[in-house]
Amino acid sequence: MDLQDYFSDLTRKPGSSALAELFKLTERPDIISFAGGFPAPEMFLPGETAEVTRQLLEEDPSTVLGYSPTPGFSALREYLAERQSHLGMPAAAGELLVTSGSLQGLDILGRVFLNRGDRIIVEAPTYLGALSTFASYDIRIDSVPVDDEGLDTARLAELLEKNRCQDSLPKLLYTVPTFQNPSGQTMSQRRRQELLDLAGCFGFLIIEDNAYGELRFAGEEIPTLKALDADNRVIYLGTFSKVLSPGIRIGWIHAATEIVERAILVRQAMDQCSNSLGQLLALEFGRRGLIEKQINKTIHLLGERAGLTLDLLASEFPAGTTWTNPEGGFYTWVTLPPGIDTAQLLSHCIEEARVAYVAGIAFYAGKGGSNQLRLCYSQPSLDDIARGIPRLAKALTNSH
Ligand SMILES: Cc1ncc(COP(=O)(O)O)c(C=O)c1O
Repeated sequence: MDLQDYFSDLTRKPGSSALAELFKLTERPDIISFAGGFPAPEMFLPGETAEVTRQLLEEDPSTVLGYSPTPGFSALREYLAERQSHLGMPAAAGELLVTSGSLQGLDILGRVFLNRGDRIIVEAPTYLGALSTFASYDIRIDSVPVDDEGLDTARLAELLEKNRCQDSLPKLLYTVPTFQNPSGQTMSQRRRQELLDLAGCFGFLIIEDNAYGELRFAGEEIPTLKALDADNRVIYLGTFSKVLSPGIRIGWIHAATEIVERAILVRQAMDQCSNSLGQLLALEFGRRGLIEKQINKTIHLLGERAGLTLDLLASEFPAGTTWTNPEGGFYTWVTLPPGIDTAQLLSHCIEEARVAYVAGIAFYAGKGGSNQLRLCYSQPSLDDIARGIPRLAKALTNSH
């Protein structure tokens, strides 16, 4: 039987399978991987997780092992509302929806807002998972470049003027403004204000994905777009994946109640609710102060790993290479001299140098990135970074 005839148009698209490839690498212990955007394994809390799980099961097994309400347990929504408020984004529990990770939050928003042919704007480069999610909607995607002040609002204004002339303005703009995946760049406060002004003027909503925002190891704090938003145009996506554990699969949407209500309807037809144990673990860790403690430890560890990675880029990589200087988060974004094709060289780097990265082209909705690559310094140890970066530099330069 030829299954090809049965597959949907979506799964037939010759799209990128880069994310699935990254997850495969996690199973190869011989590879030093700068590829997946994974938290450092040292940051997990296995002992505390075992203790809290046992306690939760002893106290209330039917809640732990049963379904939860679709919006999430009320106690967790209240805790999240308080936490968001504490971070400068006043929230009520009704403005929050607990999701199975923030990537599901993005998919839910896609279903809430997008019709065939709608236009959205993303950053160039942008988060690969977001591109994969948006690929499942039959929509038009425009990109606006990111520089060292984040999304280029002057270019965005030009694009919006053009869209207006064509009578085809975007509904949504998706951004990772702080310690962006993949570039590590952060949008300046001036640009944040400009972006909000443009959203008001051209009438689009902003999805702010803040997966890394609490992980600052240098520079000054900048308010989130949600905190600066006087007009309720910003829909905020949060997650515990990078500060606690991606395995518990707990994220959240913070948006106007009207949006959250639609999102709950959509969510009912997806997975119905987030897993109960993950929600209760996040809540209990929050109540015990363990999340904030983990954040402080993670910040310290990321600062050390980023510092060593950047030093080694400076000493090992060929002249003409540039890279970003992140002030937080997991990533630096490397631009090699023209002519070095990072997608073509990836399998050579994995097989010969036993080092992995993600090739730049995976992060663009359109063309771009052929001589760029993303390095995630969060997961490899300092020893692995010290061995891996020189090996990568050698493999990239000797083989093109
Ligand atoms: C920018 C960004 N958003 C969302 C996610 C997805 O996180 P979650 O595990 O909460 O689905 C990631 C994970 O890499 C990310 O980098």
